[in-house]
Amino acid sequence: MKILILGSGGREHALAWAVLQNPKCDRLICAPGNAGMAQIAECVALDILDGAAVVDYCTSQGVDFVIVGPEAPLAAGVADDLRTAGVLTFGPSKAAAMLEASKAFTKEICDACNAPTAAYARFTSAEPARDYIRQQGAPIVVKADGLAAGKGVIVAMSEAGAFAAIDDMFDGSFGDAGAEVVIEAFLEGEEASFFVLSDGKTVLPMGTAQDHKRVGEGDTGPNTGGMGAYSPAPVMTPEVIDKTLNRIVQPSIDEMARRGTPFEGVLFVGLMIKEGEPSLVEYNVRFGDPECQTLMMRLGAQVLDALLACAQGQLDEMRLNWADDHALCVVMAANGYPGSYEKGSVINGLQGIEENSSRMVFHAGTAQKDGEIIAVGGRVLNVTARGATLQEARDRAYRIVEQIDWPEGFYRKDIGWRAL
Ligand code: AMP
Ligand code: GLY
Repeated sequence: MKILILGSGGREHALAWAVLQNPKCDRLICAPGNAGMAQIAECVALDILDGAAVVDYCTSQGVDFVIVGPEAPLAAGVADDLRTAGVLTFGPSKAAAMLEASKAFTKEICDACNAPTAAYARFTSAEPARDYIRQQGAPIVVKADGLAAGKGVIVAMSEAGAFAAIDDMFDGSFGDAGAEVVIEAFLEGEEASFFVLSDGKTVLPMGTAQDHKRVGEGDTGPNTGGMGAYSPAPVMTPEVIDKTLNRIVQPSIDEMARRGTPFEGVLFVGLMIKEGEPSLVEYNVRFGDPECQTLMMRLGAQVLDALLACAQGQLDEMRLNWADDHALCVVMAANGYPGSYEKGSVINGLQGIEENSSRMVFHAGTAQKDGEIIAVGGRVLNVTARGATLQEARDRAYRIVEQIDWPEGFYRKDIGWRAL
C-alpha cells in the first residue's frame, strides 16, 4: 500500500515508524514531515489544511490510505474531502471533530448521554459570566470554546484569576476560539489519558497514558503541549477502564452516531479520576503528543492493521496484542519554551545512538540544514524507550537523552515520577 501521513510532529514520526514495520506498507509519504521522518520516508511540502491540494496529491500519486495526525486538518474537513474523493482515510469528519473543536459541544454530548463531567455553564458575554463566577466561587475553570492550541484553559484558584481569564477571552486574546466561554467546576483527582479507536460503532481500546503538561520539575510552571509521557497509566485499572467505556466512551460514540455524525478515528479521552470514579475533562479527536509515542512503541506494526480496520468500519474483527510492558517518552525542548525560543541551533550526538524496537529518538521540531539536524520548533526531540518495568523504560530513555549534545535545549529529569 501507498500510505500518506499528514503532520510534522513527534506523534507523526512515531506513527510513521510503527506503520513502516508492517509489511502492508510499500511506500510511505509524510506531509510536511520533519528531519526524522525524512530519514525513513519521503517528505512532501503539502499544505495539509488545504483539502483540495491533499486530494489532488493522493489522486495523482495513487495513495491508498491517509492517516491524519493533528486536529487542525480534521477541524478543517480534510478527512471529509478525502472520503468524498474515495480515498480511504483515518481521521474523523469535520462534524465529528467538533468533539475537540468545541468544548460546549462536548458538554452537550455528555448531557445527552449522561456521561460524568464537571458541572458547567456557557457564556457569550462577560457580565453574566462574572455573575456565575461570583455565585460558584473559586477554584473554577474557564475555557475558550474553540481550538486554542492548548492555551485556552485557565484553572483559576481565585475569583480574581477567573475574572482576568474572562476579560482575556472576551477581549479577543483567543480570537474566535474565545467568542464563547465554558465555565466549569474544578475537578480534583488524578489525570489520565485513554485512547480508543472507533469506526462509529465499535470501540477498541488503544492504551492508557499520563503526560506531564507543566514545563517544570514536580509538575510546576506554565502549561506546555506536554514535556513527557508514560504508558500504561497505573490509575487506569481494569475497573476504571470498564467504567470509562460504559459510562463515557460508548454512550458518546452512540450519541454521535444517533445524530448522524458518527465518530470514526481515535478518540483521546482526557479523564480526572477520584476514588476510582472517572469524569470526562475533555475529548480530543487525535492521538496525544507525546502520549502517542509511548503507545506506538508498545504496539509496533499492528498499529497499521488497527487504523485500517477503523477506517474500513471493521473494528469488530480487530484484536490488539498487548505485551506486559511500559514505555516512557522524554521531550527535549528549546530553551525558553513554552515562551519564545531561538530557532536554528545544531543538535549533535544523534548519529551514534542505536535505535531499535525498544529505543527511538522521535523528531518533532527538527529540520535538516547543510547536513546537520537543527532545531526549528519548541518541542524538538522525543526520546522514547520501552522496558519490562517503567523504571527500565525510564532508565533507557534518560541514558539516550544524555548522549544528545544540544546546549540550546532542556528536558525534565522527573518524567514518570508519580508512577515510580
Ligand atoms: P483541557 O484542554 O480541557 O484538557 O484542559 C487542560 C488542563 O486543564 C487539563 O489537562 C487539566 O489539567 C486542567 N483542567 C481542565 N478542566 C478541568 C477541571 N474541570 N478541573 C480541574 N482541572 C481541569
Ligand atoms: N499531550 C496532550 C495533547 O496532545 O493534547
